[in-house]
Amino acid sequence: KFEQLARTPPMGWNSWNHFGCNINEQIVREVAQAMVRSGMRDAGYEYVIIDDCWQGERDSLGFIQPDPERFPSGMKALADYIHSLGLKFGIYSDAGDRTCAGRPGSRGHEYQDALTYARWGVDYLKYDWCHTENLNPIGAYTTMRDALYAAGRPVVFSICEWGTNEPWKWGRTIGHLWRTTGDITNCWDCIIDHGTWKSWGILQILDKQDGLRIYAGPGHWNDPDMLEVGNGMRVSEDRAHFSMWAMLAAPLIAGNDIRHMSEATREILTNREVIAVDQDTLGIQGFPYRREAGVEIWFRPLAGGDWAMAILNRTETPRTVTFNFREEYIFDDFSKRGTFFDRITYRLRDLWAHRDIGTTETPLTVEVPGHDVVMLRLIAPKP
Ligand code: DGJ
Repeated sequence: KFEQLARTPPMGWNSWNHFGCNINEQIVREVAQAMVRSGMRDAGYEYVIIDDCWQGERDSLGFIQPDPERFPSGMKALADYIHSLGLKFGIYSDAGDRTCAGRPGSRGHEYQDALTYARWGVDYLKYDWCHTENLNPIGAYTTMRDALYAAGRPVVFSICEWGTNEPWKWGRTIGHLWRTTGDITNCWDCIIDHGTWKSWGILQILDKQDGLRIYAGPGHWNDPDMLEVGNGMRVSEDRAHFSMWAMLAAPLIAGNDIRHMSEATREILTNREVIAVDQDTLGIQGFPYRREAGVEIWFRPLAGGDWAMAILNRTETPRTVTFNFREEYIFDDFSKRGTFFDRITYRLRDLWAHRDIGTTETPLTVEVPGHDVVMLRLIAPKP
């Protein structure tokens, strides 16, 4: 049952990036409604995930209780409501004895918590790594995995230990996805120093994915952290961020207040052609093909012989990029897939303009504005 989950990168929404600790059941219900109303559910977003700060204290028998002020109706009622909308319910805990925000963690209560989650109807667990002194990461995540197995309800298991212990090397048989970095933040190019930890901009997170694509595939994904789309960056930056996450076969977990998002944000999050790249059934992560002076050209092999292509302008200055397909030869060492542009002509589909822009027979010249992307699908001739 667990192996059948997350065959494509999980999609959903998580409370942390926008709400932080300021979360309650009313917000979660309204967000779930907005996921339906905005078309996000129908575009593929499935999990509604409550991050840190939902927990109250444990009862006298050790069973975790939700914070009675923030979640007075209890988690079962909330899960039932989310399920009634055709969505799935996710929750958060921590391998240590406290979460990062200081709420009770699961250490020593793993089986009890997994049982509680199953009773509530939890479908997704994000499992954090704060306050884990003297814990072995492989051991701690294996214990929670086994507890989830024992509880019997299929749960997507998200390993959140920030890449510190190279989870891509051991996460595959333990969880469905693993964070590869510290926390994302809503800026294009920055590092924010919080003293004991740092958070990272879009470009910083992107650059930290180098070398990791060989570890990803159906059922086990690299997680470059949740989306910052709609959280204050420019529209072009949001669009580029979303495109690159799709190239990376990243989980698409929205992190904005989708109750009140702009139409531009909604259009980015529900771009079905870009989502189709992210959710491609082959599950092969994309790779940078060419990197020069602030412009990167990425490719990703897709099912049916198609390819996704992204031209990323990291700089502020608009750039004119020419790519003469006929003179290029692309081969992916990892998936052993390649394309011969002198033998096969692909149709070019612009995934943001939603229109066909010619073929690979002639050189492509595009204008890429600053902090923006041009994203294409190369459509192979179908027999
Ligand atoms: C650290 C994680 O990396 C974040 O995504 C978030 O879950 C916070 N902890 C919550 O405290």
